[in-house]
Parts: sequence; structure tokens; C-alpha cells
Amino acid sequence: MGLQAPRGTRDILPAERVYWQQLEATARQILDRAAYREICTPIFEQTSLFERGIGEATDIVGKEMYTFRDRGDRSLTLRPEGTAGVVRAYIEHGLHTQGGVQRLWYLGPMFRYERPQSGRYRQFHQLGVEVLGSADARADAEVIALALDILKALGLEDVTLMLNSVGDRADRSQYRQALVDYLSPYAADLDPDSQDRLHRNPLRILDSKDARTQAIVKEAPRLLDYLSDTSRAHFEHVQSLLRELGIPYQINPALVRGLDYYTHTAFEFQQGSLGTEGTVCGGGRYDHLVEELGGPATPAIGWAMGLERLILLMGDRPLEPRTVPYLYLVSRGSSAERQGVVLAQQLRHQGYTVEVDLSGSSFKNQLKRANRSGATHCLVIGEAEAAAHTVQVKWLASGEQEVLSQSELLSCAGRSRLFGQQ
Ligand code: HAM
Repeated sequence: MGLQAPRGTRDILPAERVYWQQLEATARQILDRAAYREICTPIFEQTSLFERGIGEATDIVGKEMYTFRDRGDRSLTLRPEGTAGVVRAYIEHGLHTQGGVQRLWYLGPMFRYERPQSGRYRQFHQLGVEVLGSADARADAEVIALALDILKALGLEDVTLMLNSVGDRADRSQYRQALVDYLSPYAADLDPDSQDRLHRNPLRILDSKDARTQAIVKEAPRLLDYLSDTSRAHFEHVQSLLRELGIPYQINPALVRGLDYYTHTAFEFQQGSLGTEGTVCGGGRYDHLVEELGGPATPAIGWAMGLERLILLMGDRPLEPRTVPYLYLVSRGSSAERQGVVLAQQLRHQGYTVEVDLSGSSFKNQLKRANRSGATHCLVIGEAEAAAHTVQVKWLASGEQEVLSQSELLSCAGRSRLFGQQ
């Protein structure tokens, strides 16, 4: 068998890549308007960053990390998510000393050793935001509203916002005990994964997909009933802001998220048609992570979107039409070919997309390729045109054509008459 991309990875070929470009451009514009600034962190980090940041009892750290030793015998891990790296960079570069709130965004590949299926990969891409330095409920509302703006701008209208509060550490440790007390008598009836989690990470049992476990969990005590007054007030404040922004949400007391760093607000945007992989965006508050990784106490909140999932959903929507004319240059004969090379370069410098046919084949074959290329216009230089320094311009949609001098084509007036823009 020939060489193939590793299981769980995929090539993004040019026809799909245009959707990615549209997605990135849309997100960039929306984030820019909200004063978020881009940050890039390495694709691999010290393994201990993720162990400490995401939590040793999580599936990500326990089962899904790509960890390896480099030639200097350091334990490194391909990042399974973006938050830990951003927080490490925030501390390492003293971004907290710049005062105020840091609003950051990132986009890049993440790696998790999961069982691949549609919408779930071992190398996937996330767009994420992190707001560091504010405990204000307005920050929670801001990031949620931004996520929704991006999803809507991509044409994904039918997403549901699921919201929960996982409280603060003290709320959670009380709840954890109540949950273990409730579940222990049913231990033998739980699915094997949940049995394993009963003492290691019992909150994760709440989102088990197993029907029998779900039936048991339905009657379990609810985390929302264990929130302190402060936690409850924060949660209510977030909800009232969402109502004022006209953002509908559903409270889901079983939404616990798969990473240990969350406090207070936890949320996900879900899209029904993707089935079990329907979570297109997940996030929440993580008020202790900066401190746990060695920085000053800094409340924070963020989210990340799975871009492959968004692309799957965008797949059957039409792309935005091309705004820049695309010229396909056909030439034959040595003098014509030379002039073609120069003309193409000059037109590119003026902002046009120009593809030069390099085949040296007959005009008929070159024109066939022009028609298939997606170009708006074809520029033809044959021997006669080369001798006269002219070019034949063909409108590929209508078949109309016109001959004009190359210098006229390169002049402002000529270009705007032919291609409809300066
Ligand atoms: P997460 O829920 O683990 O959160 O991932 C966020 C999103 O990444 C998911 O909702 C999903 O769309 C996408 N995703 C995750 N795993 C895969 C996969 N194997 N294949 C394809 N897509 C996937 C985080 O990663 C947190 N760092 C989010 C965050 C930022 N919380 C606060 N700030």
C-alpha cells in the first residue's frame, strides 16, 4: 500500500481550503472589532504544563496526549488544546504587568489521540479566545456573544447555547462528595468508564452517554444546588446580560466539560445535525489556572471552536464570489511566451490574479484549460499579437472579445474599462 496520511489526520486540499480562508477572514474581522489581539504559542510544550493545567485525572491527559522525549531527553507534548500554552506565555512574558485586561485569540492545530470519526480527528484545528484579568460577568457575556457572532456570520444559525455554572472550588468539593455518596450504592450498575471515574473524576460521570448510567445520574444531586451565594450571583448576572443581549440559552446542569480548570461559567454551543460531535464551541471561566501555573491570581475566561466541525457545517453553503478578476494567460510561440511572462508579472503588480498556461500546447487546448480554471477573463497572445504588442481579451462567461495594445491594458483607464475596477 502507498503512503497515506496518519490515521485521524487529513489533508486540506485547495478546494476546501477556500472555506478555511473565508472562515479565518470572518473570525479575524469580528475579533478585531472587539479589540482582541492574536497570539501564537508553540505547537509543543513541556508535558508538565498540560498535566498541571488540564488535570491529571482528565481523559485528555490520561489517554489522549501525544507525548514524546526529544533528543535532549525532555518530555514534550503536542498541545491538546490552546489555553494552557496561552496562560504559560501570559505569565512568562509578564503580560499581566501591562495592566488591564488582555483579550487574546489564536488559531492553530491541536492534537488528541481520540478514536477518529466524522468531526473528530487526532490533528484538528481550534480558533480560541482567552480574556485574562477580569472576573466581571460582562467578560463572560462578551466572549459568549463573540462566539455567537462568529457562528452566525458563518451562516450557522441553528446552534444552541448550553450554559451551566460549575461553581468555585469549595462549591465543587462539597458537591463532589454528595455525588460520590449518591453514586456509590449504584457503583456496580455504572458503565465501566464511569466506575473508573467514581473516585478519580466523578463529575465527568454526569455526561456519560451510557443509558443505564444516565438513568442513575438523572436523580443525582445537582451542582447548581451547591453553589455559594457569590457563585450564584455571578451566574445570575451572566444570565441577565445574555437576556439583555437577546442571546437565548438553555441551562444544562450536567454540562461539566472535560478539562479540570473550569470555575463558575461553563458553556457549549451545540449543533444538532452533527450528532455526538455536535459541540462546535466549548469554553468557560478558569479563575485559578494562572495562579496554579505560577502566575499572580488572575481571573480569566475563554472558549475554543473546532474548525473542522464548522467547515463540515459550512460545506454546502455557497462561497462568497471572487472580487478580484482572475486572468488566464494563453500564449504560443517564443516571442509571445516571453511577452506573456512580462505582462503577467505587470498585471500581478497591479493587483490582479494571473495564471500563465505553461503547457506550450495548441491554443484550443490552452483555451479549454482557461474555461476550466475558474478565470473571469482569458488573455491571448499569439504570433500576430506579439508582433503588434497587442493582446486579445476574452470574457469567458459571455465569449465576447476585444483586441487592444498591451500598454493600454496596463493603463488605468484600460483596466477599469475591461475588468470593472481600478
Ligand atoms: P474543548 O471542549 O476540549 O475545550 O475543545 C473545544 C472544541 O474543540 C470542541 O468543542 C470541538 O469543537 C473541538 N474539538 C475538540 N476535540 C476535537 C477533535 N478531536 N476533533 C475535532 N474537533 C475537536 C478546549 O479545548 C478549551 N481549551 C476551550 C477553552 C478555552 N476554555 C477556556 N478557554
